[in-house]
Amino acid sequence: MFLEKIQVQNYRNFVESDAFFSQRLNVFIGDNGQGKTNLLEALFLSLQGDTFRYADNINLIRSGQEFSLVKTMAIQRQLKFEIKTQIMKSRKHQFLNGKRVTGSDLKKEFSVVIFSPESLSSIKEGADFRRILIDDMLINFDKNNAYLIADYRKALKTRNRILKNFVDNKESKTNTNLLIDSITPEFLNLGAKLCFVRITALKGLLDDIRSALRRISNNSEDLEVQYLISGENALQYFLRDIHSLLQSRARELREAELSSGVSLVGPHKHDIVFLYGQKDSRFYCSQGQQRAIILAFKMAQIVYHRRAHNDYPILMLDDVLSELDQKKRDSLISFLHEINAQTFVTTTDLAFPEKFSRELVAVFEIKNGQILQ
Ligand SMILES: Nc1ncnc2c1ncn2[C@@H]1O[C@H](COP(=O)(O)OP(=O)(O)OP(=O)(O)O)[C@@H](O)[C@H]1O
Ligand SMILES: [Mg+2]
Repeated sequence: MFLEKIQVQNYRNFVESDAFFSQRLNVFIGDNGQGKTNLLEALFLSLQGDTFRYADNINLIRSGQEFSLVKTMAIQRQLKFEIKTQIMKSRKHQFLNGKRVTGSDLKKEFSVVIFSPESLSSIKEGADFRRILIDDMLINFDKNNAYLIADYRKALKTRNRILKNFVDNKESKTNTNLLIDSITPEFLNLGAKLCFVRITALKGLLDDIRSALRRISNNSEDLEVQYLISGENALQYFLRDIHSLLQSRARELREAELSSGVSLVGPHKHDIVFLYGQKDSRFYCSQGQQRAIILAFKMAQIVYHRRAHNDYPILMLDDVLSELDQKKRDSLISFLHEINAQTFVTTTDLAFPEKFSRELVAVFEIKNGQILQ
């Protein structure tokens, strides 16, 4: 699949701009603060229904304007898809070939793998970064996972609202317990299912991560992965084991949930640990080694996607090349060169696309919210 073009209007610092893309490598070049990441974000939003940065609708609309508009044209299996995103201050609407769609619908249709400095830091950051890493991968693995994740988030939100109402004295303890009892079985079913698909995917990807890691780093230590539920490694658990573990945790933590006003049990609390040479990479590995693991993880995700779907996802690399040492940068560029995926890269210098022949590369200069070609 590939993106053919984009039109943006009042998006972040863009007034009105458009661009036609190369099917292989697209480079957004410009000084700091010119709009390179903004443009990448508009592409991502258009294909996945949300942004990879923390932002409300209002942040996406050019200051002083009422709405913003992003239109893209994607080609997949020889079919054309027009994706239109209208952002207003209080809501956002998306249309795929004129039909209203949700973010999950878009995720089901289109696949994107993004490499950002934040994603490369996800080993040392909080567990939520690692959960994003794995949930993004799940959506790539099987498109129906987008709905499972959305359903789980919805159930979690409802459960948290009930707990919060109790903490705010808007509901009695008896009623709160009744409400929580009535929604918890479905909440735990969805939660256990999500854990299980995470575990299955992690196991399925491990060999590909290991071989990508061998390719990008000289270190040959063996990589292992753990999926932690309340500190317990559940990587080998079956669905029913996970379900009963979550059930007993929910019973144990009910009083704590009632006093904190949030759900303390479920996949939104779990963590993924990478063991490098049998040691926890969070504490043992250098920053560069941690980046290598995540880079290998993303490369494995791409290889796996190609195997499962006979097509590549669209790749987006925001500012990552400058974060990598020469060996990792060269390995990543030769990997990008080998695979037949449409790639978007932001950079402040143009040193790297030499490997690609000229006709495969489109360079866009981004200056003060304008696309200059
Ligand atoms: N809603 C908005 N309206 C107007 N300008 C905005 C809006 N949101 C962000 N900006 C501006 O966009 C610019 C940042 O753009 P962006 O993050 O894309 O920069 P960049 O080219 O990626 O820079 P860097 O190389 O530093 O990563 C900032 O100057 C910021 O003030
Ligand atoms: Mg940027």
